[in-house]
Amino acid sequence: MKVLFLNGPNLNLLGQREPDVYGRTTLAEIEARLRDQAQKLKVNVDFRQSNLEGELVAWIQQAKGQFDVIVLNAAAYTHTSIALRDAIAASGVPTIEIHLSNIHAREEFRHKSLIAPVCRGQITGFGPNSYLLALEASVNVTDR
Ligand code: DQA
Repeated sequence: MKVLFLNGPNLNLLGQREPDVYGRTTLAEIEARLRDQAQKLKVNVDFRQSNLEGELVAWIQQAKGQFDVIVLNAAAYTHTSIALRDAIAASGVPTIEIHLSNIHAREEFRHKSLIAPVCRGQITGFGPNSYLLALEASVNVTDR
């Protein structure tokens, strides 16, 4: 099984960015924890970050036929990007939406996710553990 983890804008700043909201764990540390767990589950993981909407769109398009599942923290693009939503719908690859913070407990503009309707489900508010929970969900994504 191959899972593609995609991270959107400003997530490269985790650890120093608004630590009261996002904690002090860096993206590299999250990736390391994830790789550890993925090895135990015998899951192949690819982990990427981009600040560019178009690059995220391209990676989602290319995932078709290459990955079984996409796990996407689209960051601020969650709330703005019809392009990401259309890319997910077009790819047909089961996609799990994740967030470190609980977007529903924050500012009103974060309550709306444009990608949620085309995702399998949403994991939000568990900090770095959102990534590990998504890995577990990926393994079972074909279960209904
Ligand atoms: C985020 C939540 C988004 O609203 C925000 O724009 C982010 C990070 C999260 O992981 O909690 O950049 O996706």
